[in-house]
Amino acid sequence: MAIGIYDSGLGGLSVWRELRQQTSARLLYFGDTCHVPYGEKTQAQLEGYFWEIAGFFLRQGCQAIVVACNTSSALVLPQVEGRLEIPVFGIIESAVDAVLGVSKGSVGVLATRGTADSGAYQRAFLASAPEMKVFVQSAPRLVPLVESGQVSSQEARQVVKEYLDPLLAEGIDTLLLGCTHYPFLHDLIAELAGPSVVIVDPAPALAAQVAGVFPEWKPGSQGKDTGYNTQFWVSGDPHTFKTTAELLLKEELPAVAFYHMSGEKT
Ligand code: DGL
Repeated sequence: MAIGIYDSGLGGLSVWRELRQQTSARLLYFGDTCHVPYGEKTQAQLEGYFWEIAGFFLRQGCQAIVVACNTSSALVLPQVEGRLEIPVFGIIESAVDAVLGVSKGSVGVLATRGTADSGAYQRAFLASAPEMKVFVQSAPRLVPLVESGQVSSQEARQVVKEYLDPLLAEGIDTLLLGCTHYPFLHDLIAELAGPSVVIVDPAPALAAQVAGVFPEWKPGSQGKDTGYNTQFWVSGDPHTFKTTAELLLKEELPAVAFYHMSGEKT
């Protein structure tokens, strides 16, 4: 049993680190680093990346795909639903459920430009909790900071503050990290948001949803150590990815391999 997880780069590791605790299935992580940031791409570009990466996962024997990316979940999943024979998991529903479990009625969503402009979170909250006040803030400068490992720099502090201030002015009680890169800025965001705002990282909820579909692969049930049952692939420079991933995760990773993606690069 193998599960493929992908994102534009390092962000999906916030989902991977949860999923590996909850399943003993083999995991394949793909960081499409030659196309990061996904938040600035068109729906057609993102759909092209999806099919290419899904093809790679299928050839590797994956029996499920986790789109560990809010932008692709928002813009691609509605287009591809039901077109693959294996389950494909997105993050939007898990994120909304996680917020509804803790919010008192006013949520701020920090997201990429692509996710914010898609209206996916606005629609998802309207469908599940029409009374919820939802404020979506596009935060395009955060992904490059995480990709370069600058999660506690002075610049990161200034940029996070700039994006948080309008949401805090609305009196939000909950802040959804609506991009899988942002959990790596969690400490800074929590400090600047203050103690009255609950921060929601949807990764544990998504990991639980995926693991719940494959109960026979519960950790321990196959007698395997789940720790490094993962192969890492990137479409950009493997060394840069590995070095920054280790910095963010505070642990060593196994070797990262290169996979050539066709089409234009950024
Ligand atoms: N981490 C992804 C997301 O959740 C993509 C961010 C980006 O590359 O812009 O949206």
